[in-house]
Amino acid sequence: HKLRVYDPGYAHTLAYTSAITSIDGAAGHLRHRGYPIESLAANASYLDLLHLLLYGSLPTRAQLTRFRRALYAPSASLVHADVRAVVSAFPRSSHPMPVLMAALSALGAVSPALNPSLAGANVYACPRARARAQLKALGSMAPLCAGVFRHVSGLAPAFLAPACGDDLTFAERFLHLLGADAHPVFARALELLLLLHADHEQNCSTATVRQLTSSGVDLFSALSGGVAALYGPLHGGATEGVLRMLQRIGSVERIPQFLARVKGKQEKLMGFGHRVYRNYDPRARIIRDVAHQVFARVGSEEPLVEVAVALERAALEDEFFASRKLFPNCDFYSGLVYKAMGFEPGYFPVLFALARCGGWVAHWNEFLDDPDRRIARPHQRFVGEVGPREVPPVDER
Ligand code: CMC
Repeated sequence: HKLRVYDPGYAHTLAYTSAITSIDGAAGHLRHRGYPIESLAANASYLDLLHLLLYGSLPTRAQLTRFRRALYAPSASLVHADVRAVVSAFPRSSHPMPVLMAALSALGAVSPALNPSLAGANVYACPRARARAQLKALGSMAPLCAGVFRHVSGLAPAFLAPACGDDLTFAERFLHLLGADAHPVFARALELLLLLHADHEQNCSTATVRQLTSSGVDLFSALSGGVAALYGPLHGGATEGVLRMLQRIGSVERIPQFLARVKGKQEKLMGFGHRVYRNYDPRARIIRDVAHQVFARVGSEEPLVEVAVALERAALEDEFFASRKLFPNCDFYSGLVYKAMGFEPGYFPVLFALARCGGWVAHWNEFLDDPDRRIARPHQRFVGEVGPREVPPVDER
């Protein structure tokens, strides 16, 4: 007799086994394969972390060079003309996230040899095919995100030729692909933000990627689904939501009025709260520090920074938030950093997706080797009419 537990939002369900990332929510600890996020932020690059997530170890210098070359190689990063056409077909007024979803979906469509539906259900059992799929996904993500940015920003051509130079960091190369200011302060800040957002165990989008993978679908479709999950305002969309919220509040004087609405449950304080952290999100602390470096570089007085700092302080001192253990999460300050770097709010979740793609692919890879893997298929608590009811002819209803 199997025990079924009603668990809305999977708040207590252990759905997967993983050795990649551990979180101690009460202590505010985040570790990737045992390395604390603070130590990784101080001493590792985004590609170091990607290597760690995927292969289980920090790369040696030689391994890092090989890994970087493989990701930057045209075989991994050149965007197929049909995928570029899909991106270009979207109205320039589109939100960038649906465009990214479509781009990943199109990437799957032009990669039939890496698709279990076309190349055989066991295609990923072949280590070479699996490695090719991984490199294709991870190598394409930066050019795709850059192409989406340039398209919705009205820049032509949407896809710039990747800058040569295998020695560029992931963030430096991405800024080149955008055609943006590759100032060292921006490149370092972006690299750090990408590292901090790379993985966070079974968050909504990663669990979505696993759920989709459980049905046997190809990696690119699963990643497109991951982007869809991340788009939501309660997940990656919160980066954008924080900025729009700060813009609506507008000034420090209007904070009490806004907080009253939050306490009246009329809206949420975006960038606050977390399912797992009940103390402090360690990523938020690091982001707050890097934020000030970027603000200093742009030199402009961003009035929303003052609003954000005052809002954080007011919420932390308020009983409503303290009693519910609501603290700033990683999204509270990241949007302000992206804004200072010149990005539009709608693009913030794309930057999150660029980072999180590393985690998605690592979890996909791990899940494929999981001997417990089964199709994800929860049960429901049925509260409707059980019947059986007679179906009357259409004129008698
Ligand atoms: N503002 C106001 N009240 C909140 C907030 C918030 N940001 N977050 C939680 N609460 C309240 C919630 O209404 C509930 O109150 P009550 O006990 O009176 O019913 C209580 O706190 C517990 O919250 P919950 O809804 O059970 O929390 P959850 O674990 O289901 O949701 C969350 C977690 C992150 C979705 C939620 O805190 C939230 O919506 N935050 C705002 C959006 C946000 O910043 N998301 C980014 C998350 S971190 C990065 C990422 O995943 O992308």
